[in-house]
Parts: sequence; C-alpha cells; structure tokens
Amino acid sequence: MLQGKVIVVGVCGGIAAYKIADVVSRLKKLQAEVHVIMTQSATEFITPLTLGTLSQNAVAVDMFWQTGDPHIHHIELAQRADLILIAPATANMVGKIANGIADDLLSTTVMAATVPLMLVPSMNVHMYENPIFQENLRKLRGHGYRIIEPASGHLACGDTGKGRLPEVEVIVQEVVDFLTRKQDLIGRRIIVTAGGTREALDPVRFISNRSTGKMGYAVAEAARNRGAEVILISAPTFLPPPAGVQVVSVTSAREMHAAVMEHFPDCDAVIKTAAVADYRPRVPAEQKIKKSDGPLVIELERNPDILYELGQRKNRQVLVGFAAETQDLTEYAREKIEKKNLDFIVANDVTREGAGFGTDTNIVSFIFPDGRVFPLPQMSKAEIADRILDEVVALPAWQRDI
Ligand code: PMT
Repeated sequence: MLQGKVIVVGVCGGIAAYKIADVVSRLKKLQAEVHVIMTQSATEFITPLTLGTLSQNAVAVDMFWQTGDPHIHHIELAQRADLILIAPATANMVGKIANGIADDLLSTTVMAATVPLMLVPSMNVHMYENPIFQENLRKLRGHGYRIIEPASGHLACGDTGKGRLPEVEVIVQEVVDFLTRKQDLIGRRIIVTAGGTREALDPVRFISNRSTGKMGYAVAEAARNRGAEVILISAPTFLPPPAGVQVVSVTSAREMHAAVMEHFPDCDAVIKTAAVADYRPRVPAEQKIKKSDGPLVIELERNPDILYELGQRKNRQVLVGFAAETQDLTEYAREKIEKKNLDFIVANDVTREGAGFGTDTNIVSFIFPDGRVFPLPQMSKAEIADRILDEVVALPAWQRDI
C-alpha cells in the first residue's frame, strides 16, 4: 500500500514513545521506507536500537550525526520524504515548531521541511488544554500542518482527559489515507466560494446569514489535496486560511461577484458554496442609524446573482451550485439548476439536525439536470467535499475538457 513512499517518523520524549515501535513496524509492513529521528529525551523512553531495527534504517538523534552515507541528512530527508509524522508530539516540540525554534535534529528537520507534516500531540490533559499550547496548535494548523487529535481517557500521569496518543491503527490509517489520496485534479484550477456575504446597513451594522464557511473551506481543502490549484473566494469567517490555497477575501455580494468574474475565464470549475445575500440596503447610511420611537423601514435592492451570470457566460467550465432550503428541497433545487445552467446542484435542507449552517456534518443530495437525485447520508463536510469532487471528475463535460 505504501510502496515507494518515504516517511520520516519524528519521536519526542513522552511516555507514548514506546507505542511508536508498533507504528514504525506497521508502516514497514505496508512497505514504506521509514527513517526515524528521535529527540534526546525520546531515547529515555525507547531505544534507537529498537526503532532502528524495526525501520531497518539508522536512527538519527544527534544534530551532528554521521552515518557514512553523505546523502542521508536532515535537509535531504526534509525534502525527499512524502510525509513527516511526529508522534508523540510533545508540548515542547509543538511550541518550538510553532515559534520557529530549531535547536535539535528533529526541529531543524521540520524547519527545513518542504513536505507535508502530520503531528500527533500526546501529553497531560492540562498541558493539552493550556491556552498557549492551543494557540500554538492553531498556528500550526493555519500553516497547513495536519494535526491528529489526541484521544480521551486515563492518562499515564494518573489524570483523566484528552491527551492520550490515539490508537496505533488510527495513526497508521491517517498516514495511509493521506499518502494514497487521489491526485486527479492536478493541472486544474477551481474556484470555491465560501461564507456568508455582509451587506452594510450603516458603518456598524450589516445584513448577513448563518454561513460559517465550513462547507466551502472543506471543498477548497479537498480540491487542494487532490492536486487542484484552488482560488477560495471567501466572505468573512472565523476559519484559518487553508494552506496551499489562494484566498481572496471579500465582504459583500458585489465584491464576491467582482472576484469571481475576474478569475472565471481561467478556471475549470466553480463550486459556489457561499451563501450570497440576494438583497442589500439600497443606500447604506453614512453614519450610525439612530433609534427612534417608530418602526424603521430600510429599502433593499437586488444583488447580482453570481451563479446565474456564470451560467450565461460558461463555455467549458463546470458549474456546481448549492441550494440551501427549508422546504420543498428537490423542487427548488431543480429550479435553480435550470435557471442557473448548472452541471449539478448540492441541495441541503438547512433545518435538519446535523445539516446546513455551522455544523461539522451535512446531509445533502446531488441533483442533476436530467432529474437524477443522489441522496447521501449524514457525513462530515470533508467527506461530502470529496464526494462533490468525485461527481465533478465523472462529468462528461469535465472529461471532454482534458
Ligand atoms: O458555511 P457553513 O456554515 O458550513 O454552511 C454551509 C451552507 C449551508 C452555507 C452551504 O451548504 C450552502 O447551502 N450554501 C449555499 C447557500 C445559498 O446561498 O443557497 P441559495 O439557495 O440561496 O443559492 C443558490 C446558489 O446560488 C448558491 O450556490 C449560491 O452561492 C448562489 N448565489 C445565490 C445568490 C446570489 N446572489 N448569487 C449566487 O451566486
């Protein structure tokens, strides 16, 4: 399964270090080439001899380490590997990486890395919950590091809570999933829109909706993972910008319209996940609107329908819309496919539990212009994103375009 894949396993000084012998052994059984780098303190928990024997490669600990093979050193490994996996990743190592400190072989290797990194934090629950540690994790996520969440349960120190190294099977599966993921969007440029636009009422207020951007960001990340060049046109969200994606930040529907139109001619597909305001205040007040005793009437005017306009202009591009409905889902979604000239639409009933705005999961149906409807069960937004991309690459229009 992992034949031809090179994995650097970084081991830090935590009690869970002994479990990494099993991780290394399993990766070897899957035929990966494994190189282990240990911190000095990791060698207090498990010997380099054990990990060297299992990986069938010399284990590196010392910054000034020599193997006799001049080609195997940390810079070379950091560029040649398919993945650097750090497990257990201690609070100390996470803190060093997040703050650009490179004072041992492992942190120096990470600093020089041009390849994907996956971290498996494992530590005492209070260390894990420490806001400084959490800030470091957020920072690393923002830089594109993949973090495998620790498990909860009884910890070696006697405390109970989050901080256990996940089961070895879970770690190995994450590695396998990552290294065997599809790369079927290489050479393709995809626009994804996300979040809810904001329409100013006055300098301090706006009209918007409940979109958090989670669905759109998941689509952007999935497309990036499959090799696409992704332009994420994002209305305001609280999400960190995904690494390896060109993010264009916009606020209003008109700004989103301008950004989409600018990038549209050179793209292969547009996936319009954003919740775009259909109306905006006709004349936003220049100063903060003061309350009075009577009702307030605000005149709204139509925003451009971005997707409709793309449907009129499209030549080779694939267009995927979303339909957020609270009733008659299929009927309304079908109307939108036709009106907006879409290749298919992803319909979600946003009133259902586990679906729609702000959730980590969604429940959607794919609806096609010929009337076919494919309902999917509840699944994570990341999984749905991948299913959407599977449908895109299966479209005759997409395949013709190669
Ligand atoms: O962001 P999350 O919190 O994760 O929530 C996800 C979601 C519920 C926002 C998402 O799953 C979703 O349904 N997005 C589409 C929301 C929406 O605006 O639907 P609509 O039915 O109003 O619009 C239909 C399509 O036309 C959408 O693709 C929309 O981007 C597009 N549109 C709408 C209006 C407009 N003026 N221009 C557009 O391009």
